[in-house]
Amino acid sequence: MLEAEFKHAVSGLPFAKTAYFSSAGSTNDIVAGWASEGAKEICLAYADEQTKGRGRSGRSWLTPPGSALAFSILLNTALRLEPNLIGLVSGLGALAVCEALELYQLTPEIKWPNDVLLAGKKTCGVLAEAQWSGMQLKALVLGIGINVAPQSVPPQNLLNFPATCTEEALGEKMDSAELLRRVLESLVAWKDRLNEPSFVESWEKRLAYKGEFVRVEGSQNVTEGKILGLAGDGRLRLLTNGEERALNIGEIQIRR
Ligand code: BTN
Repeated sequence: MLEAEFKHAVSGLPFAKTAYFSSAGSTNDIVAGWASEGAKEICLAYADEQTKGRGRSGRSWLTPPGSALAFSILLNTALRLEPNLIGLVSGLGALAVCEALELYQLTPEIKWPNDVLLAGKKTCGVLAEAQWSGMQLKALVLGIGINVAPQSVPPQNLLNFPATCTEEALGEKMDSAELLRRVLESLVAWKDRLNEPSFVESWEKRLAYKGEFVRVEGSQNVTEGKILGLAGDGRLRLLTNGEERALNIGEIQIRR
C-alpha cells in the first residue's frame, strides 16, 4: 500500500497520531517508542514491509513489501481497564479482523486467543505487548499482521500451523487499504466496550474448535480437554477430566 492510500484509509478515524513506513523493523517497536516518549492517546503505525516483525512466543513474522497489512496501535483503552480484564485486549484485534473479513462474505474463525483462521488456516496474527512500571500498566500495544496476497504466506516448512491469505480465501484480488479501514473501524467501535458482555460474546461466537478436544500448550504445562467457550475475562474454558478450568494463556494444538 502506498502512503496516499494509507492516508485515505485512516482519514476521519479518531487517531491522535498515525505514521506510514514503506519499511520498518517492527511496528510494535515504533509504537512502544512513542509510548516511552509519553504518548497516551490512541496512535497507529503502519508498515508496508517489516524487516524484524515479531510473532508470539518469540517467533518471527514475515511482512514482504506490498503483500500484507502490518500495523500497531497504542491503546488508551487498556489503561482504563481493571487489571484482570487486560487479557480482553488480545481478543480485540482478532474480533476486529473477523468483522472486517465478514464484510467480504468470508467466514473467519478465531483460534484462541487471537489467531484468525480462514478455511482452517491462519491468515492473521495478533501480538499484544504491555509496558509496566512496577504493577502499573503504562502502555499497551496491539500489533496486527494480515496475510493479504499469496506472496505474504510463508513457506509451509517454516510454520507450525497451516497458513493462507485473504485473497486465496476470497478467490480474487483485494483492496488492502479498504480492508485496513474496515479493521480499524471495527477496532475503534469496540475498544471502549471491552467490559460489555457483548464483546466476549462476539469473540466467543467466532471461536474455532468449540466442543472439540484440543491440547493447550502453556509455557510451563500442557492441558488437554474439550473447548467449552470463553470466560467473561477472555480466558479459555476447557472441560478436562470432568472439571471445568479456565486457562489464561496457551497455544492450541489440535488433538487428533
Ligand atoms: C503471531 O501470530 O505470532 C502474532 C503476529 C503479529 C504480527 C504483527 S505485524 C504488526 C506487528 N508488528 C510486529 O512485529 N508484530 C505485529
